[in-house]
Amino acid sequence: MPRRILFLSILLLAAATRPAVGDEQPAAQPAPGEAVDPAGVEFFEKQIRPVLAEHCFGCHSVRAIKIRGGLLLDSRQGVVKGGEGGAVVVAGKPEQSRLIEAIRWTDPDFQMPPKKKLSPEQIEKFEQWIKQGAPDPRDAQPVKESDAATKPVIAEAAAKVLWVMKPVVQPEVPAGVTDSANPIDAFVAAEYRSKGLTPVDRAIKPALLRRVYLDLIGIPPSPAEQEAFLNDTSPDAYETVVDHLLAGEQHGVRYARHWLDVLRYADADERMIAAQGIYLWRDWIINSLNDDVPYDQFVRAQLTGYRSTERTQMSATGYRSKA
Ligand code: HEC
Repeated sequence: MPRRILFLSILLLAAATRPAVGDEQPAAQPAPGEAVDPAGVEFFEKQIRPVLAEHCFGCHSVRAIKIRGGLLLDSRQGVVKGGEGGAVVVAGKPEQSRLIEAIRWTDPDFQMPPKKKLSPEQIEKFEQWIKQGAPDPRDAQPVKESDAATKPVIAEAAAKVLWVMKPVVQPEVPAGVTDSANPIDAFVAAEYRSKGLTPVDRAIKPALLRRVYLDLIGIPPSPAEQEAFLNDTSPDAYETVVDHLLAGEQHGVRYARHWLDVLRYADADERMIAAQGIYLWRDWIINSLNDDVPYDQFVRAQLTGYRSTERTQMSATGYRSKA
């Protein structure tokens, strides 16, 4: 599937799985003693709630950007409480209910919803609803989405367990647990010790060399490179190899694979037709990694490089323009 369509479908899926405004509350069970009769519940759910959600919540719900007239219509409590002018619903008496007055548009200064009058059928349903005593099964208090998302639940609980949420500290390096000069090894060794584990012996030189080659460039060392390392008895022989590998072009090739895999790089499209010039983008990724391009610039260039007048920057968007 072309990636743009895939991206779109993900967006659409996300939108579809998001509850629509007003749908977020399952029909709340009435509190004991406040049982709403099933016919009333059905009437409310079918005739009233959808209209409130579509035509009123934009200005009269906790999720409204600005709550108008001090009136909340997204909970029973809100309806009962009314707005700045007091009660809006008098159960059983539509003629005395300001909500009905508002939706009938009889007073030119008090017309709800302000932009477009509800249909005569909808208005009639509201009148019937109030005549029935305004049955409203909604019990739970609606929660403003932004409140729900930023509740300390996440921040506080997560801060205790997630290292990313913890403040940066300079930990004390455990002493006497390893002969390695690298402090990271000391932490690992201390943790091993606390669990009663014994670290394996140090890797022999050929094994160490092979590992670091595979890690950094994805290719094992040649016999000549092995020999050179075995013959280098200086204390920083290992560091020399690491520096050499990090500086080489092959390191970018190796690490570009991760990025290219994520963006599903291929030399041909889904019909197996050669994606012309796509190698330019691939090479741009490799070169950027080798040039230590900061991550933000790296991403930005791939999204907006087509605005650039520099040829190399334009290559950054190669894959996107193919998508
Ligand atoms: C675009 C925003 C908007 C929409 C949508 C809207 N209202 Fe209002 N509503 C207001 C404003 C602003 C006020 C306060 C000013 C006023 O009374 O005219 C208000 C006030 C009210 C009041 C009086 C509250 C009080 O105590 O003074 C009632 C009742 C009301 N609206 C009912 C409704 C109903 C029912 C709907 C949906 C069918 C609705 N409104 C849709 C903006 C809106």
